[in-house]
Amino acid sequence: MEQYLLEMNNISKIYSNGIAANKNVNFNLKKGEIHALVGENGAGKSTLMKILFGMEPPSSGEIILRGEPVRFSSSKDAIAHGIGMVHQHFMLVESFTAAQNIILGMEPKKGLFVSEEEAVRFTKEISKKYNLEVDAEAVTQTLPVGVKQKIEILKALARGAEILILDEPTAVLAPQETDQLFDELINLKKQGHTIVFISHKIPEIKRISDRITVMRASQFVGCCETKDVTEQEISAMIMGCEMDTSIQKTVPKPGDVKIQVKNLSYTDKNQVKLLNNINFGVRGGMIFGIAGVQGNGQVELVELMTKKRMIKDGDILLNGTSVKDLSIEQIRRMQFGYVPEDRMEQGIAGQESIAENMVSNRYSSKEFCRGGLLNYKKILKFAEERIKSYEIRCSGTGQNVGMLSGGNMQKVVVARECSHNPEVLIAEQPTRGVDIGAAHIIHKKMMELRDQGCAVLLISADLSEALKLSDVIAVMYEGEIVAYFDNTEGLNEEKLGLYMLGLEKHSEEQIRRAEG
Ligand SMILES: Nc1ncnc2c1ncn2[C@@H]1O[C@H](COP(=O)(O)OP(=O)(O)O)[C@@H](O)[C@H]1O
Ligand SMILES: [Mg+2]
Repeated sequence: MEQYLLEMNNISKIYSNGIAANKNVNFNLKKGEIHALVGENGAGKSTLMKILFGMEPPSSGEIILRGEPVRFSSSKDAIAHGIGMVHQHFMLVESFTAAQNIILGMEPKKGLFVSEEEAVRFTKEISKKYNLEVDAEAVTQTLPVGVKQKIEILKALARGAEILILDEPTAVLAPQETDQLFDELINLKKQGHTIVFISHKIPEIKRISDRITVMRASQFVGCCETKDVTEQEISAMIMGCEMDTSIQKTVPKPGDVKIQVKNLSYTDKNQVKLLNNINFGVRGGMIFGIAGVQGNGQVELVELMTKKRMIKDGDILLNGTSVKDLSIEQIRRMQFGYVPEDRMEQGIAGQESIAENMVSNRYSSKEFCRGGLLNYKKILKFAEERIKSYEIRCSGTGQNVGMLSGGNMQKVVVARECSHNPEVLIAEQPTRGVDIGAAHIIHKKMMELRDQGCAVLLISADLSEALKLSDVIAVMYEGEIVAYFDNTEGLNEEKLGLYMLGLEKHSEEQIRRAEG
């Protein structure tokens, strides 16, 4: 019989609110493998890994590590047993250096780490040992996401992680950075580490993993050797059925320019130039994609458009009117839809019901409100229809949005923002962390809006998404547009990656064509 490094047997987890996130799940690891854990959003993957990492106690079931039953009462406990986890949202102190973050909270051993030099020396040593390159003395907030991720991985390794859990590590990376991460993971594997890799991207899973465990609806679906299954079969196991995720893209019918960005620059209060002379135009009936690694000015661009920051230099016109002269309410009234990246913070009110969230941008509209009174019947009917057409998995219109899985939460936001025939839609990472089924529904809706004449600005770090949907694509790098493609023919992820990493740049003349 094969000896597993780790076995999780019949794990069930019922949260205090009654949600059964894991039902009799089985999961095992062989030493030195890369094991992909896959499944739709809300399938229970993070819960299972939180149980393994000691963050949540299981309601029932057993964990056997190196042949011994174990029970972790905290992450500290799990770390002491050689388990490390890198969460999707990094937990680094932004103002610390890489070295300070790596040693943070570690027990100083006999004079070790009492000095900054020791911390730097130690960081250089492990960075070399694991072939994860970071500048030990660099301040974390100045570093690109890919490097922050390396710091997180080093942090776990420094604490003796033999089993390393990575929750959607590639969601934030450019293709070349993903390649680098995969090289690093293979290197760690060679050194005897065991890796759990959570991802939604099937080609990646196929490429990097040795085995795959699939979960669906809180349950274990199957475990197999990666080499024995095709991408279609993996997808079918995840969905529980075969699914066609292709999108019908008709020839675009360009309308008027609805979003015009003119000579836009932005310098923050620390005098850092975050945007440098941005010019582009988005026409109705078109999807204008902006590709780029996170942190290259995309967020600031959208914040200027949506009045979260003040325009000081240059301008943005919506339907010919400067946003400087408009309030966010006025912008909303101009048939403007906005799907924000950070749905937890800006997109939804977690304590409110699905129905309330679906209309929260239009409480005062005539449709739902008469003489100051809300028409609940109408609101509920509206919400019910949307739950159906967006296939939102929930217990009903009254459920708190905060209880939904990430993908379903995102569908609520998209349903709200796309339901009033917007003329302009800004979609910021609309499917980040969203499963295949939900992403497909969101993509179809965006394409529908484009076909109805809406001007769609799509900001995405997911290049397969950007290529699939966009009619034209601009690439942002360090606050500038460095490339503009007026069609996506012959364009691929690797090629876009060169511009995203600043390795190549288009001519001024070519970039000016983005003005529309
Ligand atoms: N702390 C929590 N309290 C209550 N329910 C939760 C909690 N965390 C997750 N859930 C629910 O458990 C289910 C599984 O979630 P999760 O493990 O995060 O799935 P995945 O990582 O596969 O997307 C979802 O329905 C989610 O809403
Ligand atoms: Mg998760």
